[in-house]
Amino acid sequence: MVVRSAAQATCKAGVAAASRSAPTTATSILSARSQQRTFATVQEGTPQRKYGGLKDQDRIFQNLYGHHGADLKSAQKYGDWYKTKEILLKGHDWIINEIKVSGLRGRGGAGFPSGMKWSFMNFKDWDKDNKPRYLVVNADEGEPGTCKDREIMRKHPHQLVEGCLIAGRAMNATAAYIYIRGEFYQEATVLQRAIQEAYKEGLIGKNACGSGYDFDIYLHRGMGAYVCGEETSLIESLEGKQGKPRLKPPFPAAVGLFGCPSTVANVETIAVAPTICRRGGKWFAGFGRERNQGTKLFCVSGHVNNPCTVEEEMSIPLRELIDRHCGGVRGGWDNLQAIIPGGSSTPILPKKLCDDQLMDFDALKDSQSGLGTAAVIVMDKSADVVRLISRLSAFYKHESCGQCTPCREGSAWAMQMMQRFEKGQARAREIDMLQELTKQVEGHTICALGEAFAWPIQGLIRHFRPQLEERLKGYAQKAGGEALAGGWEHDASKKGHLIAPGQ
Ligand SMILES: Cc1cc2nc3c(=O)[nH]c(=O)nc-3n(C[C@H](O)[C@H](O)[C@H](O)COP(=O)(O)O)c2cc1C
Ligand code: SF4
Repeated sequence: MVVRSAAQATCKAGVAAASRSAPTTATSILSARSQQRTFATVQEGTPQRKYGGLKDQDRIFQNLYGHHGADLKSAQKYGDWYKTKEILLKGHDWIINEIKVSGLRGRGGAGFPSGMKWSFMNFKDWDKDNKPRYLVVNADEGEPGTCKDREIMRKHPHQLVEGCLIAGRAMNATAAYIYIRGEFYQEATVLQRAIQEAYKEGLIGKNACGSGYDFDIYLHRGMGAYVCGEETSLIESLEGKQGKPRLKPPFPAAVGLFGCPSTVANVETIAVAPTICRRGGKWFAGFGRERNQGTKLFCVSGHVNNPCTVEEEMSIPLRELIDRHCGGVRGGWDNLQAIIPGGSSTPILPKKLCDDQLMDFDALKDSQSGLGTAAVIVMDKSADVVRLISRLSAFYKHESCGQCTPCREGSAWAMQMMQRFEKGQARAREIDMLQELTKQVEGHTICALGEAFAWPIQGLIRHFRPQLEERLKGYAQKAGGEALAGGWEHDASKKGHLIAPGQ
């Protein structure tokens, strides 16, 4: 899930401004740096302490491996629905303040501060507007590599239902719509059962938990398009239309679902809210580095001995995450070739950057990648990284909704070029052409799917250019000459084929 945040825009503007003023002394460089930095940028200096090794008592998701049932009684045994009425009665300002203190940043990919985002719903005179207001929970989980929200819905459905109620109260919402990926049939069944149990016990619905607050929850099954995970596209789809992203502004908090004020939030973001309110924002903020606080579900897949989804402290070193929870990289750490740190849309990182990589928003941004959904895809030396990125390009081309020309055409071109690079059937200068193409797409589309297909390719070119060039040489050796740009064979014109001019 792709990161295109306000912070990113601010940061880009900051970089431009800093380069215009061209500071020369060390202090001016430092002060220019600090000016250009927002909450989503670098932490200075060495980490204050070691991160990782979350204790069992600090795990929010106590049933992640399904040792208990997902029913209400079991959920209550491990703490769900405890003192929910008291939390609701504290009111929206208190809940939002706790979330702000906790430092929680959206777990859907962009990492926008959740307390601030939720507070946008309580705009001036919101209570004079008698329209319904909605919390929309994004349970689409379409990003390749990501498998955390499904675990919450399978094993912790009550935590999500309770989270909807508390987050809904914070936003003064009248109802929550949970938009679940269509393929998640089992998860939808478990979640629907939990919703019904909560209705039956008076925990949601009229006078939820006896608090005097009325709140409904609806579960809606999507039809399996990746782009429907984008918040405005998801809203369109919920309204029964084609899932095509909307131009922003207006933002959903002003004009959202059915034209009413709405906020879209990820499953994990919502599911951690009850524990934060019970244990306090400060407790949650005690984990991870500043501006990257909390615990987080990491899903590690690929060439590790024990792929898993695990809750850990934010800012845990990547190597520790893999060694402690996944039994290490297949064949040992030195056999690591690269990782994708946050789901398929985040740029790939080669081993040399993985050695000391911390797993949080800022540290990964510093490495020109992103935490995204914290879905770590591990590749050992046997993996073909060019083939991998080519496969991802085909995925993004398939998922483009087609509204924006740069995304629709660019993703198709990129896919075709990547397929030729796989075989080495290209000219070296086409690597730069491909890079330029992705740069032209970035920031020029309605939604961030444009970046989602551009960034993996940029990461490949940044770190694996020699491998790409190696393939071109290999092809040239076999074919008796380097292919021409566009993929024609070196002697195509001699053979009488019509080729593009300028070859
Ligand atoms: C193409 C695309 C797909 C996305 N898919 C998802 C998704 O499956 N789940 C999700 O929570 N967010 C997804 N997002 C991010 C959402 O637009 C939105 O930022 C997120 O749901 C907000 O939740 P948060 O504030 O809790 O992070 C996607 C974004 C884009 C551009
Ligand atoms: S960027 Fe792509 S997916 Fe997003 S709206 Fe434009 S065409 Fe559709």
